[in-house]
Amino acid sequence: MNRREFINLAGALAVGVAGADTLKDLMIKGPSGIMVGDAFAGPLPMNRLNAFAKEVIKRKHYAVGYPINQNLNMKDFYKWFVDSGLCNVSMNNVGNPRKESALMNSHAFENEVIEYFAPLFGFKTGEAWGIVTHSGTDGNMHGMYFGVKYLQAKTKQLPIVYVSDQAHYSIKKLADLQNLELRIIPAVPMGQMDVSAFEKAIDPTKPALVVIAIGTTFKGAIDDHPAIAAALRRANPPAVYTMLDAALFGGYIPFSPFKDVVNRQKLAFDAIAVSGHKFFGFDEPLGLFITTNEVFNSQNPFRVAYLNDAVPTITCSRSALGALKFWWQMTRNGEKEYAKQAAYILETAQYQKDKLDEMKYPAWLNPMSNTVFFKRPGDWIMKKWDLAPDHDDRLCGDLAHEILMQHESRKTVDEFIADLKKDV
Ligand SMILES: Cc1ncc(COP(=O)(O)O)c(C=O)c1O
Repeated sequence: MNRREFINLAGALAVGVAGADTLKDLMIKGPSGIMVGDAFAGPLPMNRLNAFAKEVIKRKHYAVGYPINQNLNMKDFYKWFVDSGLCNVSMNNVGNPRKESALMNSHAFENEVIEYFAPLFGFKTGEAWGIVTHSGTDGNMHGMYFGVKYLQAKTKQLPIVYVSDQAHYSIKKLADLQNLELRIIPAVPMGQMDVSAFEKAIDPTKPALVVIAIGTTFKGAIDDHPAIAAALRRANPPAVYTMLDAALFGGYIPFSPFKDVVNRQKLAFDAIAVSGHKFFGFDEPLGLFITTNEVFNSQNPFRVAYLNDAVPTITCSRSALGALKFWWQMTRNGEKEYAKQAAYILETAQYQKDKLDEMKYPAWLNPMSNTVFFKRPGDWIMKKWDLAPDHDDRLCGDLAHEILMQHESRKTVDEFIADLKKDV
């Protein structure tokens, strides 16, 4: 069938005349038997969709094992989105948001999100470049790629990547993706990078790309940035790029008394990656990536003729809706609301740790952390409360953790503790 015949058949299908069945035969059946691409398939199976929605909403109460804020408040955003007519428009934030572009995008709002957060991470006015990313991993990806290019521009050498064994797996994958030498540094039992092991691992002849965990995934440990910086000064490699993986903690730490930990004026770093859907709470993965103009300017511009621009991001199409959602939330919430939420999750984590201590249940909580980790309970608790497992023989062997987010109240903690009491 050629292009013209196909178009004629599609027209026949639209008006339901002879020949339409031939086109239907060409369509692929999906796993559920529904014609893929069949625009005339009939009404949507609303019962199925509503049952799915009901089930997911029910599970929300027990979703305490992963760092996702389930206290969303997106109704007003979506109302505006529909009422304004934007729900029927395709926007795309492709390109450098700092450059004027004729495309249908929300760059202006994206820039305001970065301008709002950059000073909270200690970037001076006019010093920062950044984007709203697809996720924390997307931020790590940009951070590592930008770091490699920055160090290469400075030294004409590829760097060695240093990260602790407790760091998120995305760092290890991203080093693999760029074919970089990766030195995984052991962590102490509470999860922080062992700085003496790090110092021994530093190659003083090669540039260093160091990823500092501001909240490890499982134990919620913050690496000792001052000690890492001191070790780097002593080893003195040809150039250093430091990046903070602050996926969850980067959301609440700036609004807490511990904010200096992510303030580059207090402890220098070159880039930071934060997840948007973790502390802030969105209905889809989002994130922030912020670096300096100095790092940004050392990137290969790769001029893209069809966009009439040099595109600095790795990803081409980027969500315009995500940037709008971030802008909406930060404008509505402001620092006071974020500070209230930061205090709430830290307080609930302490409450849970105290409850576990009261029943003499082996449990740990790092400073500045909302992640309580403890001896792994029975499978039924793991399943019911959607807990994440890990293992460390230096503690008690099998472990699980709970991440106290905004949707988990003291009452929920009490409910969890009651279950645990049935289990011991
Ligand atoms: C420390 C850390 N970094 C990065 C990530 C990845 O973030 P995302 O899920 O937004 O890609 C996570 C996710 O849990 C994390 O804990």
